[in-house]
Amino acid sequence: MSRFDPADLRSEATLADRDHETMTVEAPFTGDEFATLPLGDERDVETAFDAAREAQGAWEARDPAERADILLEFHDLLFEESGPLLDLMVEESGKARRHGYEELLDAALCARHYAYRAEGYLADESRKSPMPGLVDVEVNYRAKGVVGVISPWNYPLTLAVSDAVAALLAGNTVVLKPAEQTTYTALAALRLLREAGLPRDVFHVVPGTGPDVGESLVANSDYLCFTGSGATGSIVAAQAGEHLIDCSLELGGKNPAVVFPDADLDKAVRGLIRGCFTNAGQLCIAVERLYVHEDVRAEFTEKFVAAAERLDARAGDDWGVEMGSLVSADQLEKVSSHVEDARDAGAEVLTGGEALPEVGPYFYAPTVLTDVTGEADLHDQETFGPVVSVYGFEDTDEVVARANDSEYGLNASVWSGDAERGREVARRIDCGTANVNEAYAPAFIAHDAPMGGMGDSGVGRRHGPDGFYRFTEPQTLATQERGEIDAPPGVPYKWYAAAMKRLLKAVRDVPGIR
Ligand code: NAI
Ligand code: MG
Repeated sequence: MSRFDPADLRSEATLADRDHETMTVEAPFTGDEFATLPLGDERDVETAFDAAREAQGAWEARDPAERADILLEFHDLLFEESGPLLDLMVEESGKARRHGYEELLDAALCARHYAYRAEGYLADESRKSPMPGLVDVEVNYRAKGVVGVISPWNYPLTLAVSDAVAALLAGNTVVLKPAEQTTYTALAALRLLREAGLPRDVFHVVPGTGPDVGESLVANSDYLCFTGSGATGSIVAAQAGEHLIDCSLELGGKNPAVVFPDADLDKAVRGLIRGCFTNAGQLCIAVERLYVHEDVRAEFTEKFVAAAERLDARAGDDWGVEMGSLVSADQLEKVSSHVEDARDAGAEVLTGGEALPEVGPYFYAPTVLTDVTGEADLHDQETFGPVVSVYGFEDTDEVVARANDSEYGLNASVWSGDAERGREVARRIDCGTANVNEAYAPAFIAHDAPMGGMGDSGVGRRHGPDGFYRFTEPQTLATQERGEIDAPPGVPYKWYAAAMKRLLKAVRDVPGIR
């Protein structure tokens, strides 16, 4: 039996003691049954929250360094167990092994990052006094309580655990509902966390569908992290609003890349092939709009199309596979219909534009489109597949305006031989993360810096201090050390007001007071 056999991993899930309905999970490479998944509902969610709430006080009371040690051990276990873990991820999600490895790296590095920072973030902070010498001000950080996480299938490891890791280090307990397709990867990660020393009741996974588990999860959480589609994100945010809890939403994108004529074209081709086709394009920060300067458009496009055609897209679990399958029949249908609709609206398919049933039931060819018109759905909407549209441009103001002509604002990339020029343009693009001379990875793995979306791409940020403090309740604690906030006894208020006026005008610009 493998280290992460689905039937055995089920024991990691939190399910109340009764019979559960099940669903069949398909292996995307073959369409055959991979496993059955028990489906929880609000009763199981209640069981998980009761236990998580009970465990939270003791978990928060632990020395932060002890919590950090557990997460550092988890970092090591991810690498030690990477073989069987990647086997599971490839089988369950249909991704290429190398793309599974990228998310394993991300999960490990995010755990390490917060393990080394959490204690400092949680330390009491002294803040500027409103009345120096009279009032002392500090801020203390407490955990929110129990954090709910709803995660998608595209990055089943890192999107299930990386937000949770920051929440745990801040002293929260966590209840996670992973996407149905990829629940076993989340359970494998949970097993490793427990083996690293995480107490069982500190982190629960409740399997089940969005409507059945999601709604009661939101209703019971003290904070909610959601990653997925905009449509579901707004349902979840409305429910969070009803329960007066805060949430962060990491939603989709229609991410632009801009290639200037002074860019190293071969490097740009390699980087943008990764940017468009990693994880078969099922990546919220993947590039779907490619703006190439007219001076190099023909040369770039020829090289880019050739590179897309060379991609080794296949149903294998070895490191050589360069692109895996789409996750499901639904995703294949969505991608195919986007491309058909674009073709009907006048687009030309430079390569791809078809499913690859001989490779696997849900494979779709790396696809490059040109002459995409505004009538095509994929001109503005996220495809979430291996499909990119190439557009030409002539000047910088024009390309910035076109990059910004989107409801989304998640990620962008700018390619130029002059990095400062690249940064100048990137600063003008409305997006939460921007990369110069790479497509998405450097900003995403910068765990000390915020990641998230402007506009319809989301609310709030993961990573960095922002991604940590969202899981805390700050308490401002002020001590009146001398005097009172009132006129001194016996002094008429009118005199006090006049004296305050003179004093405050005199000290307005004094360093240490202003
Ligand atoms: P989805 O947004 O419905 O699913 C994400 C998670 O939300 C899953 O765990 C799902 O079970 C849960 N969920 C669904 N309905 C819910 C509800 N009413 N309450 C609470 N939780 C609920 O995404 P789906 O249907 O899997 O994919 C549809 C499209 O969403 C994709 O084609 C893609 O465009 C986009 N997407 C974007 C992702 C991203 O990383 N930004 C990830 C996954 C999908
Ligand atoms: Mg927003």
